[in-house]
Amino acid sequence: MKVSSIVFATASLLLVEATPAVLKREQIVCPGQVTVSETFIGADSNVKLAQVYCPENTPLEPALSARQDNGTTPLDVCGATCDTNCFTPSGGGPNPNDCSVIADAMRFYSQNVNDTFLIGTGTNNTVVLTYSTCETFYVNQDPVEQSYCYSDWATIVDYIAPNCQSTQNAHGGNCIAADQQWFIQVQTN
Ligand SMILES: *[C@@H]1O[C@H](CO)[C@@H](O)[C@H](O)[C@H]1NC(C)=O
Ligand SMILES: *[C@@H]1O[C@H](CO)[C@@H](O)[C@H](O)[C@H]1NC(C)=O
Ligand SMILES: *[C@@H]1O[C@H](CO)[C@@H](O)[C@H](O)[C@H]1NC(C)=O
Repeated sequence: MKVSSIVFATASLLLVEATPAVLKREQIVCPGQVTVSETFIGADSNVKLAQVYCPENTPLEPALSARQDNGTTPLDVCGATCDTNCFTPSGGGPNPNDCSVIADAMRFYSQNVNDTFLIGTGTNNTVVLTYSTCETFYVNQDPVEQSYCYSDWATIVDYIAPNCQSTQNAHGGNCIAADQQWFIQVQTN
């Protein structure tokens, strides 16, 4: 069955020690986040899908902007591996059942609309999905546009939510691309 093979594949997305400490801690979506657009997805149209920008952020590296404007095709990172980190301590994490609703909505969207989405570089293009207590967001840390897929994102949410709970002394977590060029976080909304 498709779902079980996806869940099985997630077991390989495990911890690697080399991840820089700065990324391992919890990130906020961004200071003063402003919603650019939002829509509701899923079979019940109850999961909010939003794109936000970050007016208070300063660019991480000024050199990046020159590279991002040269018309290169998006970097396809769908299927790339990432390393999971749980945030300590326990308490105040999202309800994993709410995170499952988000994952299901992403799969529904991927099957009925489009699995692939494009995401611009930096926190100014952060994509955020929320349902009840759960929030997940994706940040492209490449200097160029990326394309990613909701089916993979759903798998990561399904992995982090139940595995980074209070019983694991955690309250959510993230998964950082092996090459550091993107990360996905799952946290309390
Ligand atoms: C994000 O967008 C805001 C508003 O356009 C801009 O002021 C800010 O410098 C941008 N931040 C980055 C990191 O590009
Ligand atoms: C765009 O930039 C990339 C990376 O610097 C480079 O490899 C590529 O050749 C450039 N493409 C164009 C059309 O200038
Ligand atoms: C899905 O979205 C990608 C990225 O925007 C686009 O290139 C592709 O054509 C879309 N596919 C379909 C079937 O709409």
